[in-house]
Amino acid sequence: MKFKALTIVAAALSIMLSGCQTENKSMENKETAVVDAIMSRRSIRQYKDIPVERELLQKIAECGVYAPNAMNKQEWEIRIVDDMNYLNEVTELMKVDMPFFVKSDEPNFRNGFRNASAIIAVACPDDPTGMTLIGAGLMGENMCLAALELGLGTCVMAGPSVFMTTNEKAKPYLDKLGFSDGYKLRYFIGVGYPDETPAVTPRDLSKIKFVD
Ligand SMILES: Cc1cc2nc3c(=O)[nH]c(=O)nc-3n(C[C@H](O)[C@H](O)[C@H](O)COP(=O)(O)O)c2cc1C
Repeated sequence: MKFKALTIVAAALSIMLSGCQTENKSMENKETAVVDAIMSRRSIRQYKDIPVERELLQKIAECGVYAPNAMNKQEWEIRIVDDMNYLNEVTELMKVDMPFFVKSDEPNFRNGFRNASAIIAVACPDDPTGMTLIGAGLMGENMCLAALELGLGTCVMAGPSVFMTTNEKAKPYLDKLGFSDGYKLRYFIGVGYPDETPAVTPRDLSKIKFVD
């Protein structure tokens, strides 16, 4: 009787283990385009002096809007600026009041938005739970990864958004973005055709722990 029970347990374990092995094998064979993109994305701060097609900018923004967000309220707004006059004029203001950020003495300097050819501005309202900010942040990585697949580089930037929301002289440029009442500019994403391939930035994997 005891022997029969042990045989059943052993058989069950063997079936479970073979199931796990099949699962692991199928993991090995999976396409990992998204994982590869996440691992290879780097912030780009040097771009070729060519414009980005609006069709691509639109697609990137749409990928942002498909990010997870609390209760699908979609409390975010996106504005895309590819007018170099706008970028240059804000850069001139930054040079005066925020020169440490602009880095205009760097070689190949083009503008204070880390030399981008276009910028995507993200806004969301304040919310005590922080949920709208989480959603607005999640849309950013969607956009960076979409841009990567479309052959474009990106750099998330909070520096210029802090400047634009706190500097009086920048107010006309902030107003021009035309965000709805109650929506605050949170960050920009600079976009362009990359002209550099930065090295991998180190990550601290000890931040990850399984809880048993
Ligand atoms: C919220 C936020 C704000 C950032 N602000 C700036 C910025 O103002 N200027 C800049 O050059 N990079 C900025 N970055 C980019 C980070 O410096 C960059 O993501 C980080 O160093 C990791 O490098 P990687 O993106 O190449 O992996 C920002 C990133 C985030 C998420």
